[in-house]
Amino acid sequence: MLSFYFLILFLIFLVILNLVLLGGFFEAPWFPTKKKDFDRIAKLAELRPGMLFYDLGGGNGEILFYLSKKYNITCIGIELSPLLYLYSKFKSLFFKRVKIEYGNFFQYDLSKANVVYIFLLPKTYDKLKKKLNSELKEGTKIILSCWPFEYWKPTKISEKENSITYYLYIVQKEKSCL
Ligand SMILES: C[S@@+](CC[C@H](N)C(=O)[O-])C[C@H]1O[C@@H](n2cnc3c(N)ncnc32)[C@H](O)[C@@H]1O
Repeated sequence: MLSFYFLILFLIFLVILNLVLLGGFFEAPWFPTKKKDFDRIAKLAELRPGMLFYDLGGGNGEILFYLSKKYNITCIGIELSPLLYLYSKFKSLFFKRVKIEYGNFFQYDLSKANVVYIFLLPKTYDKLKKKLNSELKEGTKIILSCWPFEYWKPTKISEKENSITYYLYIVQKEKSCL
């Protein structure tokens, strides 16, 4: 009986480790973007068919499934939590324009992106800015959830009462916007 409780506790610990501790140890724990905000993000990014949309830390992938279907775009999510990865990878089998990658997004090349969506803690921004600045092409849109980049003026801000604020940046190489 004791070993049964131990097993349950161990499983709970594994789930918490996957959803909170692992991501938190890296760039952010899991906290999904709200469904009601998906279209706001699409509007801010001015999504058009054929675009390539990345989510750095894809979580459960819900925003990717929704946007790829509604806006006819290709979406790539990169996630390091095994549980979230497996869940979204399995679901992606039913969506032909969604690709889910496993691992640390710092190891992935983002040069083909048209839009990069970021919902991470600001502690990661300095390192992230270097990567975005060196890899993203001119005109790529970066959307930040909640916290803006320091010292850089967003091209557009989407604000709504009692809701999260989203910040749009557009890569301009000659001005070194990041
Ligand atoms: C705040 S959640 C956002 C999830 C999803 N982007 C959304 O908006 O619904 C952050 C996610 O990033 C993942 N994460 C944190 N650091 C990461 C890294 N270095 N590489 C890949 N995923 C990471 C976490 O596991 C977590 O699922």
